[in-house]
Amino acid sequence: MTTTSTKQVPRLDEMTRSELIQYLKDTVKPEEGLIPSYIFSHPKVYELEMEKIFLRDWLFVAHKSEIPNKGDFVTREMGGQSVIVTHGADGEIHVLLNVCTHRGMKLCRMDNGNQKNFTCPYHGFNFKNTGDLIGIPFQKVVYGDTMDKSKMGLKEIRHAVYADLIFATLDADAVSLDEFLGDIKWYLDLAFNRAEMEVVGLPQKWNVDGTWKLGSDNTISDSYHTLVSHGSIAKLGLVPTGDYSKYGYQIYTGNGHGLNLGMPNPDGFAFPESLIDEYKERLSKDQYDILKQMKNMIVCVSPNIMILISSMDLKGQKISQTSLRIWKPTGPDSMEISSWVLVEKNATEEWKRLSEQAFTLTFGASGIFEQDDTENFTDITQNSKSPYHLQENIVFNYTMGMHQDQVEDFVGPGIVYKDKFNEANSRAFFRNWLDQITAE
Ligand code: FES
Ligand SMILES: [Fe+2]
Repeated sequence: MTTTSTKQVPRLDEMTRSELIQYLKDTVKPEEGLIPSYIFSHPKVYELEMEKIFLRDWLFVAHKSEIPNKGDFVTREMGGQSVIVTHGADGEIHVLLNVCTHRGMKLCRMDNGNQKNFTCPYHGFNFKNTGDLIGIPFQKVVYGDTMDKSKMGLKEIRHAVYADLIFATLDADAVSLDEFLGDIKWYLDLAFNRAEMEVVGLPQKWNVDGTWKLGSDNTISDSYHTLVSHGSIAKLGLVPTGDYSKYGYQIYTGNGHGLNLGMPNPDGFAFPESLIDEYKERLSKDQYDILKQMKNMIVCVSPNIMILISSMDLKGQKISQTSLRIWKPTGPDSMEISSWVLVEKNATEEWKRLSEQAFTLTFGASGIFEQDDTENFTDITQNSKSPYHLQENIVFNYTMGMHQDQVEDFVGPGIVYKDKFNEANSRAFFRNWLDQITAE
C-alpha cells in the first residue's frame, strides 16, 4: 500500500506553447475577479510577458529634460535590452541599441553623460551619438575596401514623445504612441503638461524581490491598502486618518492604463500659486478644475509605469511632489524600481527643494510609504512560488466593487467609478495583460 497521493501539480514547463496559453485562458478570469497565484512568479508566464509585452509595448525610456544638450545621453533598458537615449549632434533624440554592430559588445556602460562619440571597449569601433559608425581601427588593413561603414550604424529603436516623456518600442509594427496611450493622455497632462517640468537629479534605483505586475496592479487600482499598509503613517499624523484614501474616482482609459484620482483636497491647493497662469494656459478648463481639487493622483501606464502626484504639509506649506517610476522586471519574481522626481521648471528654488524633499520622505527608496508597499509585493510573490499554489489552484480575489455603477458625468475620459476602493481597474488590467500574453 502506498501513502502517496495521486494529486498532480500542473507542469507548465512541460506544456507546449498552445497548451500553456489555453491553461492561462482557463485559469485567469479577470471578469470574475479571480486571478491565480502562479501568474505572479512562474518562469513560463514571465517568458510570455517578456516576448508578448516587453518586446511589443511602448516603454518609457527618459524624460526630455534629462538630455537637454547636444551630446547628453542616458542608458536605459527595454525588455532586458540596453539602449542609449541620446540628444544627437543633429539635435534629434535617438534611441540606439547598446550593442556594437561588430561583434555585440555593450557599447556604453555608463548610466549617463555627454559624449560626441561612443568607442567600443572591445575592438574600438567608433560611433557618433546619432548612431553612425565613423571609425574602425586599421580599417584599410583589416577590411581593404570591403567594409561599408554606412551600413554598420547602431540600430535605431522606434521612439516617440508625449508630454516630454520619451517612449520607445522594440516592435516596428506597434500602433502609434498616440493610439497606445489613448485617453490616458488627458490625465498625463495633469502631471507633465500642466507646466514645463524637469527631472531633478538622477533616478533613484532599488531592487525588490517581487514581480513587476504587483507594482502596476497596486498603482492602477489599490487605494484600499492605504488604510492598513500605511496605517502607521496616519497614526503619526502625517496623513489624515479614517477613510481619507477612499474619496475621489477610479478611472480606466483602455489598453491597460488607468488611475486613481484623490479629490477633493481638504488641505487646499498644493501647487505653486505663482504658476497658476501657466497651469491655466497649458491645461483645458476641465483639467485645471481637477488640478485645483486634486489631493493625489496615481496613474498606471501599462505595462509598468507609475506616475504619482501626492501632497503633504512641509515646513508649514502645502507641497506636492510629482514622480514617475518604472517597475522593471529583472526575473519572474524580481524587479528593479527606478524613480524620477519632477518639478515645475519655473517654480522657485525653495519650492523645488521642498517638493523633492516631499518625494524623498514618502516614495523615495527609503520613503515611509515605499517601505510598506515593497513588503507586500515581496511576500505575495515569494509565497506564490510554492508548487502547492498550482496544485490547489490558489486564486486571489479581485471582486471588490463589482456591484458598483459607473459615473456617467465625470469631466475626464474613461470608465469612471466614484470612490477609489474598487478593484475594477485591476480586473481591466489583468484582462489586457491576459489578452496580450495569449495573443497568437
Ligand atoms: S565588438 Fe565592438 S569593436 Fe568589436
Ligand atoms: Fe502603497
